[in-house]
Parts: sequence; C-alpha cells; structure tokens
Amino acid sequence: MRLLAACFLFVGAACSPETTQLEPDFTIEASQRVSGSNFLTPETVAQQNDDFENPGYLWVERGADLFEQGEPSCAGCHENGLEGVATHYPAFDTGTQTLINLEGRINLCRTRHQGLTSLPYESDELLSLTAFVAEQSRGLPISVEVTPQTQSAFESGANYFMTRRGQLNLACTQCHDDNWGKQLRGDTISQGHGNGFPAYRFEWEDFGSLHRRLHDCDTGVRAAPMELGSQTYIDLEFYLAVRASGLELESPGIRR
Ligand code: HEC
Ligand code: HEC
Repeated sequence: MRLLAACFLFVGAACSPETTQLEPDFTIEASQRVSGSNFLTPETVAQQNDDFENPGYLWVERGADLFEQGEPSCAGCHENGLEGVATHYPAFDTGTQTLINLEGRINLCRTRHQGLTSLPYESDELLSLTAFVAEQSRGLPISVEVTPQTQSAFESGANYFMTRRGQLNLACTQCHDDNWGKQLRGDTISQGHGNGFPAYRFEWEDFGSLHRRLHDCDTGVRAAPMELGSQTYIDLEFYLAVRASGLELESPGIRR
C-alpha cells in the first residue's frame, strides 16, 4: 500500500486512483481478527467492562424500561429475553423481503406487533432499545452468514467497502484492511469492526449507532455520507458483520 502511505504523508497531494473499485478480499485472516478495543488504553477497556463505570449502561437501563412499555409490551411477547439474538444481525426478514438490522427489527416489532410508529433512527429511544437487546449478546461471537437471499446485499456492502471515495479518495479497505495498527491523526487505525456498537464515543460525548460511526468515516475522507438507517449502510453493516464473524459483541462499547 505504498500509494496510501504517500497520501497520508502528503495529505492533499495527488492521490489519483488507478482504479475506483478495489478487489474484495478478506485480507484479515480469522486468526488475526481483533476487536477495536485492542487498540484502546487498558483504562478505557476497564471502563468498558465495568457496568457501573460504562456510560453506555445508562442507555441499556433506559432500554430495559422501554421494553416494559407498550400494549402488549415487548417483554410481554419476549418473556424469555433476547439472549444471543444480536449475534445474527443484520438478518433477512421474510415479511418485508429485506435485510434489516437490529434497529429495523425493533421498529418492525413496533409497527407489526404493537401498532406503534417507527422510532426515528438515532433517537434516544431506539438507541436505548437497541443497546438493551445488544447487551444480551455481550461476549457472544458474531454469527452471520451469507445466504442466497442476502447475497446481493453482501455484494453491495463489499462494493461500498472497496470503493474509493471523497476528496481523499480512500476506500474503507485501505485503512481497515491494509493499514490497521498504524497511526492516523493521533488515533490507531483498527480493523474497522462494528462489534462494539451501539457505543459511547468520547468524541461524541454521547452514545451512538454503528451508522453514526460509518457516517464519521465517510466524512473523514470528505465524502458525502449516507443517511443513518439507509439500506446502503445496512448492507455495509452486513458486510462488516460477515467480515467480523467470530468476534465477540461488546455493546455497549466505549470508543475514542
Ligand atoms: C482514512 C482512514 C479511514 C477510512 C478510509 C475509513 N476509516 Fe473507519 N476508522 C478510521 C479511524 C482512524 C477510526 C477510529 C479508530 C479505529 O477504531 O479504527 C475508524 C473507526 C471505524 C470503525 C469503528 C471501529 C471500532 O471498533 O470502534 C468502523 C466500524 C469503521 N471505521 C468502518 C469504516 C468503514 C465501513 C469505512 C468506509 C466507509 C471506513 N471506516 C473508512 C479510519 C478510516
Ligand atoms: C405481540 C408480540 C410482540 C411484541 C409486542 C414485540 N415483539 Fe419482537 N418479535 C415478535 C415476533 C413474533 C418475532 C419474530 C419475527 C416476526 O414474526 O416479526 C419478534 C422478533 C423480535 C426480535 C428478533 C428475534 C430474532 O431471533 O431474530 C427482536 C430483537 C425483537 N422482536 C424485539 C422486540 C422489541 C424491542 C419489542 C418492543 C419494542 C418487541 N420485540 C415487541 C413478537 C413481538
């Protein structure tokens, strides 16, 4: 990746692409796959792992309260809890014939089973319910597979990951497959996995979804970001989940 190194050294210098679309390949072997928390300080990891010190648990608690609300309530139908469920999302919903993420699944339950409206993406309520459901899979490995029904979504996610974009003309793969472990603007580039989300980010001073993080990476290369909750980001989220298979879920994660 000499070209990328040159782009980093001379930001703003010509980084003209030889091709726009890079070849999809899993350059990170399963044995080398590591969570973004590996690149955090031990103090931050300790804070993440302490339910009382981790600010994300405020959202988990609010989610637990919301889970009791509605007629019937979420809890009324899911009395045995939702342990392990988050490990297989995004997933294909046969009713709508679309790939949905956890946020979409929760909103489907509201509209389909509770006669309520969808919660806006990134709203505090949707984040809280998502955190509450995701937390029940903490420590469990991501288990998402490509099926004939999700093949095209997987390809669209892979294409997004491999396509150069923005004024910096960089693809996700160039940072997160080819240059993880290296420094960039005072940060260590991780492998770009979504297993910590929704997460509390110090930079946000707030809790946010994976899509908000993706939005930040897109704007980081000065590209026009996609809408949070858009099918493009859901497909990308799916690609990321397949790429991160086996990594343990950490939500509510803490990140810089
Ligand atoms: C210029 C390099 C660069 C590009 C291009 C880039 N990112 Fe990132 N990304 C970063 C940095 C730096 C961070 C923050 C540190 C870290 O966790 O890697 C980050 C964080 C992330 C995270 C959060 C990881 C965690 O554990 O918190 C995800 C997920 C991610 N990126 C996905 C993507 C995707 C998908 C794309 C393409 C749309 C992309 N990134 C493009 C540099 C980049
Ligand atoms: C009236 C019963 C009912 C209510 C109320 C309900 N759900 Fe569901 N939920 C279901 C059913 C049935 C499914 C299986 C998929 C389907 O048929 O829609 C499901 C699926 C799910 C799943 C995915 C499970 C999996 O294994 O993939 C999640 C997560 C979920 N519900 C969360 C919620 C949340 C959060 C609420 C409250 C906002 C809620 N549900 C309210 C009936 C309900």
